Amino acid sequence: MTTAAIPILDHAPIPTWFKVGGGADRLATPRSLDELRASLADGPVRVLGDGANLLVDDDGIDGLVLSLKSPAFQQIDIDPKTGQVVAGGGADFARLIQATVRAGLQGLEGLIGIPASVGGACFMNAGGAFGQICDTITRVHTITSEGALRVLDRSEISYNYRHSGLDGIITAAEFQLTPTDPVPLRERLKECMAYKKRTQPMAENSAGCCFKNPSLSSDLSLPDHEGFAAGSSVSAGLLIDKAGCKGLCVGGAEVSHVHGNFLFTKPGATARNVIDLMSLVQERVHDTLGVRLQREVVVWSRHTAPKATR
Ligand code: EPU
Repeated sequence: MTTAAIPILDHAPIPTWFKVGGGADRLATPRSLDELRASLADGPVRVLGDGANLLVDDDGIDGLVLSLKSPAFQQIDIDPKTGQVVAGGGADFARLIQATVRAGLQGLEGLIGIPASVGGACFMNAGGAFGQICDTITRVHTITSEGALRVLDRSEISYNYRHSGLDGIITAAEFQLTPTDPVPLRERLKECMAYKKRTQPMAENSAGCCFKNPSLSSDLSLPDHEGFAAGSSVSAGLLIDKAGCKGLCVGGAEVSHVHGNFLFTKPGATARNVIDLMSLVQERVHDTLGVRLQREVVVWSRHTAPKATR
């Protein structure tokens, strides 16, 4: 098989929520599973979701980037009676949440405000204070880098905090939601959205939370705050705040005053500014509080090998 029939753009921009960084040497948007499979024949690829949790280095990336933004991978099918939902990997996660709430189906509403494609959200196990996506997933459809289609049952996926262990490309996901009274459900959606708007800088160019919430290896006491016991999970934003990093800047990249785990870009910022700011924050949190923060944001650069994952 060759990629000849698939529309491929050379030197294409990669839209990310940070709104900085370089483009793709080659970007393909397959229009079917067959085209997707054919595009894998030439070697490893990188898969672009919504660009919501992604930072691309300033000089862009080599190799083939796949976008699942064609209609074939953006389909959303909802059965309001049974609560069964199937969504394409390239579908917009917010659109899926809105559609399920409109259909009176409970289960995804607490995840509103997390920027993602459905595939990206399943891969990262997107979540927050009001639940995580794996709570409602029943099956995930993937295609391996060799082009084999697989349908994995939820029990076969090692989901835990911000981790799925999935490899390959997520082409679709199935969910089991609960039919419920749509009126309180819509209220709940509004409450979750209001919480996000109150506590997060939603209007800035950011990738949401930059770091995973760490699980502590030893007890931690924080200034003007209750302490945390070893083994507990702590908000990375709280740690960044307590380490005095809010407002810290590198070039046009800044740590938000609203929520410490949000790094955002201003006009003129570069991807390098964001990378350096992430390192600076990690260093300060480690030096001040002794906790190592792990990046949640994925960084693509020419110096890292592509894997067939997002
Ligand atoms: N806090 C501070 N200062 C800060 C940030 C937070 O004091 O700068 C305190 C808050 O006041 C609160 C606690 O830390 O008492 C927890 O904050 P929050 O409710 O914002 O939760 P989080 O653990 O920081 C997680 C997810 C978010 C998700 C929220 C709400 C991670 C890394 N982050 O944040 O997910 O929106 O819960 O559900 O798990 C994302 O993944 O992109 C993301 C934004």
